[in-house]
Amino acid sequence: MVVKFGVIGLGNRGSKFALHSIIPHPDLELVAISDQNESKFLPFEEQDVVSYTNYDDLLKNREVDAVFIATPDDTHAEVVLKAVRAEKHILCEKPLEVSLSKISEMEAALAHYKGVFLVGYVLRYAPLYHKVKQILDAGTIGQIWLANGVDHIHYGGYAFFHDWHREKKRSGSLLLQKATHSLDILNWLIDSKPVQVAGLGGLEVFGEKGAKKKFGAPLEKNLHCRSCTLKWSCEESLLNIKKYKNIEWQKNWPDNCVFDSDVDVDDHQALLILYQNNTKLTYSLCQFSAFYRREFQFFGTKGELYFDDERNEIIINDRLKPEKTVIHVAEQAHHGGGDDEMLLDFLTCLKEKKTPLSNLASSAVASRLVLAAEDAISQNKIIEVEG
Ligand SMILES: NC(=O)c1ccc[n+]([C@@H]2O[C@H](COP(=O)([O-])OP(=O)(O)OC[C@H]3O[C@@H](n4cnc5c(N)ncnc54)[C@H](O)[C@@H]3O)[C@@H](O)[C@H]2O)c1
Repeated sequence: MVVKFGVIGLGNRGSKFALHSIIPHPDLELVAISDQNESKFLPFEEQDVVSYTNYDDLLKNREVDAVFIATPDDTHAEVVLKAVRAEKHILCEKPLEVSLSKISEMEAALAHYKGVFLVGYVLRYAPLYHKVKQILDAGTIGQIWLANGVDHIHYGGYAFFHDWHREKKRSGSLLLQKATHSLDILNWLIDSKPVQVAGLGGLEVFGEKGAKKKFGAPLEKNLHCRSCTLKWSCEESLLNIKKYKNIEWQKNWPDNCVFDSDVDVDDHQALLILYQNNTKLTYSLCQFSAFYRREFQFFGTKGELYFDDERNEIIINDRLKPEKTVIHVAEQAHHGGGDDEMLLDFLTCLKEKKTPLSNLASSAVASRLVLAAEDAISQNKIIEVEG
């Protein structure tokens, strides 16, 4: 049986997923696409698809069995609720939504839903994370009491602080946008619910504060790297990043100045989380790292496990014997192989009427944790995680 997909939102994620994961898949067919912006249809010109500027029309198309929703985070509830009414199977991008009330609204709408509802926490599907889950569940390092996660994001300054992600009113926060992947994975690996969170955060490198530190005064508003007089002297300009670090995030990427006073999301955050099973987690998110890496450590009664997704290595050290095991997991494309495995889970759940590994309940926990963490940072106190 071939499942016919419609994709809503053809930005960075939606277009890549449609072109690289849905179209080449032998059991899927891309039949419809939707974006508010017609120019986003261009890469699909050669495809036999119907395009809509209003996604309501895509949902009315009876040929569409399932939808992939990749619109901005603060539109997910609206689109999901309509897709439920249209009785489509749903693969919705993470995070669930940006507010507790919208998450509750989605939970109510999906409570008795008969279709598949999978949320795009792709790392749950990547082989590296699966291997770690197997090792931890087998009790190899004993009872875990302490864990640590670090997100080194080198592209904060290449991407997030040049585009819409830099404003809280658009992205919520970078905890919600980025950290949510690692925090969801940690919830899954620790195998318990987060109950309390404390945190600290700051905006020191980018934004107006960053400008004062770097240039001694704020810069004028609405500067753009490509037309800025500082484009070759400012190390944060997209042109210098391309020249010195050999990175072009994407052609025509927005080039808003990272030192603009509109920037209000934190560029570094640190959290302390307590789980129901008494495991304690420390987690850090840094947007001005020198490289990109997710790394994790688990401290158990029998040993310690470290892994990261840059080297794709899992290192297990025994606590009482001089034994060390190193496992290398082969590197794979498209989120470490996660995109393909996620689609496989979606299809299996559709055929066998099962609940996906990345589901409504697990995603609601991840989103509620992140929203509580933001409150902990802004109120400077320990916050109970709802749910
Ligand atoms: N799972 C992952 O690893 C991963 C990676 C990147 C992004 N994402 C998620 O994917 C989503 C999209 O992110 P992005 O980086 O592609 O953003 P983007 O800004 O590049 O793309 C969003 C697209 O949605 C379109 N859009 C907005 N409102 C719409 C509407 N009402 N109807 C139709 N189209 C509409 C915009 O025109 C744009 O083309 C976000 O939720 C993000 O968190 C997930």
